[in-house]
Amino acid sequence: MKIEIVDSKTPKRGSLVLVVGEGRQLGPFGQQVDKACGGALGKAMAAAVRFSGGKGQWLEVLVPGNGLGRVLLVGLGKTTEVKATAYETVGADAVKRLATAGESDLAIAAEVLKGTMLPAAEAAARAALGARLGGYRFDKYRTRMKDREKPTLKSVSVLTQAAPAAKKLHAPLDKLAAGVEITRNLVTEPANIIYPESMAAECRKLTKLGIKVEVLGEREMKKLGMGALLGVGQGSERESKLVVMQWNGGKKGTKPVSFVGKGVCFDTGGISIKPAGGMEEMKWDMAGAGAVVGTMAALAGRKAKVNAVGVVALVENMPSGTAQRPGDVVTSMSGQTIEVLNTDAEGRLILCDAMWYTQQRFKPQFMVDLATLTGAIIISLGHEHAGLFSNNDRLSEQLAAAGKSEDELLWRMPLSDAYDEGLKSPIADMQNIAGPGFGAGSITAAQFLQRFVIDKTPWAHLDIAGVAWSKKDKPTVPKGATGFGVRLLNRLVADHYEDR
Ligand code: BES
Ligand code: MN
Ligand code: ZN
Repeated sequence: MKIEIVDSKTPKRGSLVLVVGEGRQLGPFGQQVDKACGGALGKAMAAAVRFSGGKGQWLEVLVPGNGLGRVLLVGLGKTTEVKATAYETVGADAVKRLATAGESDLAIAAEVLKGTMLPAAEAAARAALGARLGGYRFDKYRTRMKDREKPTLKSVSVLTQAAPAAKKLHAPLDKLAAGVEITRNLVTEPANIIYPESMAAECRKLTKLGIKVEVLGEREMKKLGMGALLGVGQGSERESKLVVMQWNGGKKGTKPVSFVGKGVCFDTGGISIKPAGGMEEMKWDMAGAGAVVGTMAALAGRKAKVNAVGVVALVENMPSGTAQRPGDVVTSMSGQTIEVLNTDAEGRLILCDAMWYTQQRFKPQFMVDLATLTGAIIISLGHEHAGLFSNNDRLSEQLAAAGKSEDELLWRMPLSDAYDEGLKSPIADMQNIAGPGFGAGSITAAQFLQRFVIDKTPWAHLDIAGVAWSKKDKPTVPKGATGFGVRLLNRLVADHYEDR
C-alpha cells in the first residue's frame, strides 16, 4: 500500500474521507466538496440524526454522479479539544474501513477545523502515519484467502493545503512506522521461522541503513564468560546469539545511548516447563529484542543525530538432556554466581550478561532494557501500562513523558533493598527467583537486573509482558504484535538525546 501526501483537490475516483467537527461542522475543503455535489453531505448529516460529528462517529454517504464515489464523514468531536493523535486515528480507521472494500484508492482530507490549535502539516503527517500503522497486516501465511477478505486498497492520498511542510514532517514518521513494522513482523513470526540465528540474520539486514551489526556466537560468548546467558540456551539445538547494533549519527566521541532486549525466541520454561495451555504465546518472548531492532531501524532510517547501541540476547529456552537443571549454579560475565532455582525465570539470566557487556564495552549515557519478563506484571498493570523500574528519576520521567506522547504508557514501580533480600541464595551470590510466598514477582526480577548495573549508570527496565501482544484492536495498533517500545524510545531520543 502506497501512502502519499498531496495538495487538496477532489479525487477523481475511490473514496474520500472528510473530517467533521461536533455540530456537523465541515472545513473549507469539505464545504467545497459539499457544494460540488449539490449539498448532499449536509442533507445526509441532517438525515442521520445520530451523527453529530462526535469523536469516532462515521457516516458513509454515496454520491453518484459528480465524479465522486463514496464520501465518508468522520467526527472529530469538539474542535478545541482535537489533538494530533486524533488524525492518526482518522488515518488508521479510514484504512481499516476501506482496506477490503473493493476500491483501490482512498483520499483522506486531513483538514484542521476552526477552533483546533494544530498546524495543518502536522495533521496531515499524523494521518499518513496512522494510515500505515493502522493498516498493518500479516498475511504471509494465508494462502487461501477468500476474495472478499483480500485487501484491495493500493493507494492512500492524504490531502492538505500544506503539502510541502507535511511531507517534510512525514518523512521521519514514515521511518518510525517502518521500524514498528519490523518489530511487529519479528514478533508475529513463529518460532520455527524466527530463532536466534534467523533473527540475527534479520538484524544484519539493518546494515543497509548504515547500522554496524556484529553477531556473537556461543564460542565468543563463552570467551567473554557469559555463563548465565549460555546456560539458558544450552538445552536447545539452536545456537544462542548476541547481536550488537551501532548507529553513529551523533557527534564523534559522545557516549551512546543504549537499548538491551530480551530475545527468548521460544520460552517453554525449560525443565521448569510451562503448562501446555497458551504456551504458543511464548513465541513472542522475544518482543523486547524485537523492539530494540525496530528502534535502531527507526533511528537510523530517519538519520537521528545520536549515537545509539542496541544489544539483543537471542536464545531458545528448551527442555532436553542438555538443558540446565533447577539448582544449577552459573557464573555470569560480571563474575557474580547465580543459583538457577527455576529455569523459567530465564529472561533475567540472559539480560544480566547482555547488560554487563553493554556497559563494559560502551560506557553508555543510559541503558534501557526491554523484556517480556514476568507474568506478574500482567497481574499488576494488565495490558494498559508497561512496568517501569529505574535507578534514576530523570530517565524515568523522560521515559514516562515519552510514553504519554506516543500512547505507549509506563507506570513506575518500586525498587528497594527489602525486595532485594528475596534473592539471597544459600549457595551462590544470588538465586534467580525469590522464595515461595515472597510475592512481588516483577519487582524481584527488576532487583535481579539491578545487581548488574555498573556504577549507577542511569538504567531503566521496561517489563512489557502485558503490552507486547494485544488481543483487541486499537486504531493504530491492530491486534497481535503491537511493536510496543519503538515509538516510545524513538521519542525519548528525539526529545532529549539528539545533537541540535
Ligand atoms: N516469558 C515469561 C513471562 C511472560 C509470561 C511473558 C506471560 C508474557 C506472558 C518469563 O520468562 C517467565 O516465565 N516468567 C516467570 C517467572 C517465574 C518463574 C518467577 C513467570 O512470570 O511466571
Ligand atoms: Mn520463562
Ligand atoms: Zn520468558
